[in-house]
Amino acid sequence: MENPIIEARTQRTQWFLDSRFGMFIHWGLYAIPARGEWIRNIERITEEDYRVYFDEFDPIYYNPKEWAKLAKEAGMKYAVLTAKHHDGFCLFDSKLTDYKSTNTQCGRDLVREFLDAFRAEGIKVGLYYSLLDWHHPDYPHCSDRIHPMRENPAYPDEGRDFSRYIEYFHGQVKELLTNYGRLDIMWFDFSYGDMCGEKWEATKLMEMIRSIQPWLIVDNRLEAAGETYGSIITDNPTVYSGDFASPEQMIPPEGMTDIHGNSIPWESCITLNDHWGYCAADHHYKSPRMVVRNLVECVSKNGNMLLNVGPNAKGEIPAESVAILKEVGKWMKENSDSIYGCGISDMPKPDWGRYTQKGNKLYAHIFEECINAVALDISADKIEKARLLMDGSEIQVTVPWNAVAFPNKSFFTFGGQSFPLPDELDTVVEITLKD
Ligand code: GLC
Repeated sequence: MENPIIEARTQRTQWFLDSRFGMFIHWGLYAIPARGEWIRNIERITEEDYRVYFDEFDPIYYNPKEWAKLAKEAGMKYAVLTAKHHDGFCLFDSKLTDYKSTNTQCGRDLVREFLDAFRAEGIKVGLYYSLLDWHHPDYPHCSDRIHPMRENPAYPDEGRDFSRYIEYFHGQVKELLTNYGRLDIMWFDFSYGDMCGEKWEATKLMEMIRSIQPWLIVDNRLEAAGETYGSIITDNPTVYSGDFASPEQMIPPEGMTDIHGNSIPWESCITLNDHWGYCAADHHYKSPRMVVRNLVECVSKNGNMLLNVGPNAKGEIPAESVAILKEVGKWMKENSDSIYGCGISDMPKPDWGRYTQKGNKLYAHIFEECINAVALDISADKIEKARLLMDGSEIQVTVPWNAVAFPNKSFFTFGGQSFPLPDELDTVVEITLKD
């Protein structure tokens, strides 16, 4: 009898694992200083000094319909927007605070517009909610190891009632689950030290979540962070262990499994440059080729990739990010059959790239040019047919004269040539295996 928590997790995450590719969106007041979303922590900015950005915030070009069209063009099947990040600023019309986008000059419920626009494009929607809150008066200040006013005796913790913060945090999650229609993902971030699990009253929170939107999938950071995974990898996951693990800015060497080696749902969250929130000086962007190959690597290890964009203070996704996502979209347009619904193959990783698989469809992702033919770790008699995925053209699988010593392998070229590769981002050959 499988653990009921694990069984429910498996059911809930089927669409998620089929989707494989999502957009992460980090956006808020920190787009104005434009030095990343941790700016209050790094520069120990007081609430008073940070207020200038609240008073100024007016994203005149915010048009989530454009964001949604870009995500769709890139082949992204779900999207997660920061509803509240560590600075405590709410991009939604919460009745529990004045520190919200509807009280800024723009007067808009940015979350509602995001949800409407992405749903209209058929993209599943999620919201990121920071467990940390550097604005809320009842969140630890001086004693906390992360708060912008940490170690500052001018901000003592006497009089701060953490249970009031918990009531606020749970209340806001309830607002998001009650007032904004069907959500597909809640992405909490993050636990640290003793700020973990029941410190957040996580069992009570999950009972509330499951009672309102039982289909919702939740990440593992009510008891974990970007570098830890919590009880989701154990035989006895807690009710708040989450439905997927969330490795950050890396792809786990063997993917994510439980302690017995059984694959568990996981998603690597990765920035396009080096920052989650908008950073004007950061032009260190990953190439379209790197994005495609990282996505393939995630899928080849049974994982997803949540790729981040950080819109600027005017509400625009940076031009570099747009250009990269459009190029990735061109590759996805021809090759997404090798991504959606695919996962790990039994085949060993080949020298020239990676395999993904979906039933009897084996996808060879060729990253490296070969001297002669591309070698497959499977004999030709097990292959029904092979096609170049980008144009459907036949790929003839044979054992050439100079490879007869390797009958348990099979080989192919691209019309007699093995280089240059038809697509230097990733050339995909769809191999239909005989039953
Ligand atoms: C880290 C960062 C946070 C970011 C998150 C995304 O937790 O603290 O700023 O939102 O990673 O996974």
